[in-house]
Amino acid sequence: MAKTIIEPFKIKSVEPIKFTSPEYRGRVLKEAHYNLFLLKAEDVLIDFLTDSGTAAMSSKQWAALMDGDESYAGSRSFFTFEKVVKDLTGLRHIIPTHQGRAAEKILFTVAGGKGKVIPNNTHFDTTRANAEFSGCIAVDLPVQVALETDAFADFKGDMDLNRLEDLVKRTGREKIPFCMITVTNNSVGGQPVSMKNIREAKLLLDKFDIPLILDACRFAENAFFIKLREPGYREKSVREIAREMFSYADGCTMSAKKDALVNIGGFLALNDEALAEKARSLLIMTEGFPTYGGLAGRDLDAMAQGLVEVLDEDYLKYRIRSIEYFGEKLLKEGVPVLVPTGGHAVFLDARRFLPNIPSSSYPGQSIAVELYIEGGIRSVEIGSVMFGKEAGGEFQAAQLELVRLAVPRRVYTQSHIDFAAELIIEVFKRRENIPGYKITYEPPYLRHFTAHFEPVLS
Ligand code: F0G
Repeated sequence: MAKTIIEPFKIKSVEPIKFTSPEYRGRVLKEAHYNLFLLKAEDVLIDFLTDSGTAAMSSKQWAALMDGDESYAGSRSFFTFEKVVKDLTGLRHIIPTHQGRAAEKILFTVAGGKGKVIPNNTHFDTTRANAEFSGCIAVDLPVQVALETDAFADFKGDMDLNRLEDLVKRTGREKIPFCMITVTNNSVGGQPVSMKNIREAKLLLDKFDIPLILDACRFAENAFFIKLREPGYREKSVREIAREMFSYADGCTMSAKKDALVNIGGFLALNDEALAEKARSLLIMTEGFPTYGGLAGRDLDAMAQGLVEVLDEDYLKYRIRSIEYFGEKLLKEGVPVLVPTGGHAVFLDARRFLPNIPSSSYPGQSIAVELYIEGGIRSVEIGSVMFGKEAGGEFQAAQLELVRLAVPRRVYTQSHIDFAAELIIEVFKRRENIPGYKITYEPPYLRHFTAHFEPVLS
């Protein structure tokens, strides 16, 4: 039997990508002030900026779009969607939203608020921003090994339950309206959370009567890692594993732009009726009527179909293997990669890649710029540009200096990955000649999206 794992699909529709020269890319990136968010997407050859909203839909999803019911209230599409989500999660109240952060905004508005504390294995930036905007204190409790980019462990996405217990005891149950667990844990490398960790977190939280909410946007990738790595799950279907994960949750927020394989969509699901009622009232003010929640009816059909397709184990095998394959190619040539590779992206460790560039000169930004100029690859810095601070004029580095290459679902083939790996290796070989960067303009919040940079030439 051949060992190669192939893309489990045929391609029915294609979108050309534009080839440009290094000189052209150097010019447009300079015009974009060396910020890859400010480029025109058509000037990018392979776009690894995010795996969010960038999936290729299947022919069945496109067909489902045509079948969408655009009724304002009581749309058939809603009931199709609701049934799929209820069957998957077992949760009672399903509230569609236009994307994940809209579900977060509603949840934190109805259940968060001033002085409350929200634990999470690691908050994604929009989750943290929504928590803090409502007045909450967002506390990240990753396991220690998550911060060691060269340490192999099966479930680096886990939450540190000792620290959780300690936090609950110190803070007091009444200040913690709910606890979140993010699957997979995006911010520490798309690393999976074990079933054991979710189950034990739930047992602990039950003692204090604190609900558990999953940030579920990559739930299928997480479930597949459990099948591969956790004792007792090899014989179970990914669907059964996903159902068990959700069985420990009292609710979830979902960005459907990841594991529901759509370009837009999300939902909030809750068991608590009173809370769901409050959420629906707010939904009507901000998103739309509860049977469409900020989406077209057809988007609900596409989500429903995507949530079925994502649990196909041939798809998940290909998905997880293609990220692992990308990472292996780089590791073989000594490129420092966060290990093991996670579910949706390869992360380069910029501190080890460019040891001569201090955090204050943004080594992750340097790599992201070089990858674009070398070959038109767009990645994203997740380091001191994104999380560093100037506290009282003093530079404070981020905990990790990473460059994320997030792989859109079902979009690129193995030769795109081979090409990208070759380019990254080329850049790694000439790493001695790469400059650091300085920020010449930054807005007061979320500076990475719009900041301007200039190379620091020594
Ligand atoms: N939670 C996690 C773990 C995420 O990764 C994201 C988005 C969200 C919530 C918010 O969902 O974008 O639909 O509003 N992550 C994208 C990324 C943007 O590039 O990692 P959204």
